[in-house]
Amino acid sequence: MLNERLNKIWYGGDYNPEQWDTETWVEDQRMFKKAGIDVATINVFGWALIQRDESTYDFSDLDQTIDRLYQAGIYVCLATGTAAHPAWMAKHYPDISRVDFDGRKRKYGGRHHSCPNSPTYLKYASRLAEKIAVRYHGHPAIVAWHVSNEYSGYCYCDQCEKQFRVWLKQRYQTLDALNKAWNTAFWGHTFYQWDEIVAPSGLSEEWQNGQNSNFQGMSLDYRRFQSDSLLESYKLERDQIKKYVSDIPVTTNLMGLYQELDYFKWAKEIDIISWDNYPSIQTPISMTAMTHDLMRGLKDGQPFMLMEQTPSQQNWQAYNALKRPGIMRLWSYQAIAHGADTVMFFQLRRSRGATEKYHGAVIEHVGHEHTRVFKECAQLGQELQTLGDQTMGTRVKAKVAIIFDWENRWAIDLSSGPSIALDYVEEVHKYYRAFYERNIPVDMIGVETDLNQYDIVIAPVLYMVKEGHADRLKTFVTNGGTFVTTFFSGIVNETDLVTLGGYPGELRELVGIWVEEIDALDPTVKNQMTFDKPYGKLSGKYTCSILFDLIHSKGAEVLATYQSDFYAGMPALTRNAFGKGQAYYIASSPEQRFIDDFVATLQDEKQLTPTLVSDPGVEVCARENVDQRFLFVINHNHDQAHFLTGEYRYADLLNDQCYDGLSTIEGHGVLVLKRQE
Ligand code: GLA
Ligand code: ZN
Repeated sequence: MLNERLNKIWYGGDYNPEQWDTETWVEDQRMFKKAGIDVATINVFGWALIQRDESTYDFSDLDQTIDRLYQAGIYVCLATGTAAHPAWMAKHYPDISRVDFDGRKRKYGGRHHSCPNSPTYLKYASRLAEKIAVRYHGHPAIVAWHVSNEYSGYCYCDQCEKQFRVWLKQRYQTLDALNKAWNTAFWGHTFYQWDEIVAPSGLSEEWQNGQNSNFQGMSLDYRRFQSDSLLESYKLERDQIKKYVSDIPVTTNLMGLYQELDYFKWAKEIDIISWDNYPSIQTPISMTAMTHDLMRGLKDGQPFMLMEQTPSQQNWQAYNALKRPGIMRLWSYQAIAHGADTVMFFQLRRSRGATEKYHGAVIEHVGHEHTRVFKECAQLGQELQTLGDQTMGTRVKAKVAIIFDWENRWAIDLSSGPSIALDYVEEVHKYYRAFYERNIPVDMIGVETDLNQYDIVIAPVLYMVKEGHADRLKTFVTNGGTFVTTFFSGIVNETDLVTLGGYPGELRELVGIWVEEIDALDPTVKNQMTFDKPYGKLSGKYTCSILFDLIHSKGAEVLATYQSDFYAGMPALTRNAFGKGQAYYIASSPEQRFIDDFVATLQDEKQLTPTLVSDPGVEVCARENVDQRFLFVINHNHDQAHFLTGEYRYADLLNDQCYDGLSTIEGHGVLVLKRQE
């Protein structure tokens, strides 16, 4: 998907020459060359500089920047500049500013605060996108188009409220259908006119900044609607570009596990996924790996762009730890190993003033190249030049898939009861982590992804079952697949109405059980899942907490039972034979040790082989195409560690060394191995 003009792993990042003078630009170019930087993302916040009033557009600075970079051998990821609207626009056209959750109209300030349903915003944003496309399409510097920046947040203004009603009419056709879908007979909320419906906010049905709602169906729809509204505004700009550009990918940078937008829906409108990776020093490495895999999964495994990461530190966390020596390099290769074809930073030169002046950059305030950070960046730049295009376009192949669904996540988060301790992302991560630590590749997939290619599909807390999904899962298991789901699954449909007849609703037949009640206890209170006899690698007792489904088997084999409380002896883990496959049900939230042993059991059952066997903390991933297979060995440990090469010999593309049998990798080391004949 990436343009052939720059046929190597792209290296660069956000660049803001508008904050600097001409002498600095010359110096920037010298240093970019030194660092091996070949792509700059520009004009992300260009709107106010280009457009000083309704009709005056001045592109002279941007013209010069693009030409200058190109002459210096730097390609351009060109942003449309609409991530922050100009102050004059907010002053003259108040409709452009959002209204927040508590009904407060914003004044001018910040960024990403344009109302996605504002006529002013839509008109001027698409006009700017078109002018930029007309002016720069075909410019040989441009390798990607970058619309706006990190779309985010919701608006609750009157124009959004009106548009919400239009959106609802399209979805439900009649008020009768809507009243049923939202169960408005509850608390006497029946609507007789469309304009009786108001946006669910702190002034109406929600509280705690939208963490709670009286009507989950309505709140879910508002989230869908706001996600769609922002997506429509993205599409408007994208379509302006597409009128003139057909051979260069158009993207917008996503934010990984960001909560408020349904990225699977967005992905359909984006040519190549790009995302901004900002883990903190405490973020588990497996969580970052999972997020990369999720971003890769948005477009069925297509390689993605790492659009932003910091070379050293952030400014917006509470404690902005420096990336320790070697960590920027390590995490850059982790991104590549999981499917990135670019390594890009925010930012190339550190700002002098305003909120991001303490955000890391390739060029720091001292201004010269004799810094730790610059040297590390330059080393990586050199290595990426050595790697060239060898790994580009190669794919990650996985036999295991974990389902992740934003609407399901919203519904769980909005649910009033049974427990506030339930964290969807954390539950998903527990399963991911167990595979990750065994070097077994996982695809993070959406509910629409084709399941044929997988041996195992795991759907942690599949609370919302969408239309047709249960049938697709059944087909997968009938054909021999292994399906795993957990407590608090199969409960509601897409409008958050409970599927009657016993939980887990549409999944009941597949898992062969029936859930009668769901207990929720303070998360410090534990029960145990007990095995009377070992099952695979599982044996003895494991603690579990948060939610406890009280289940009856309807044909499923009971593998473990609860140890205590009034439901002692009831099933805690079941397995149901279904067609040629099987479906597991895990009735509570187990400790990680259970999930590790469970995954080891599945691994044996399905004969999944790890990419390579390695010491703990040594991540091994593969990317391949028809003729090549590359292994990335990434040692997250501070100290040296080991891995086994298995049946082949390998050569490292970075240091030319060969590896055969029991091999050593230095602390924080990275190897990019190519199989030897
Ligand atoms: C985001 C934005 C950038 C910058 C960085 C700072 O990713 O896209 O403009 O603010 O955060 O970490
Ligand atoms: Zn609005």
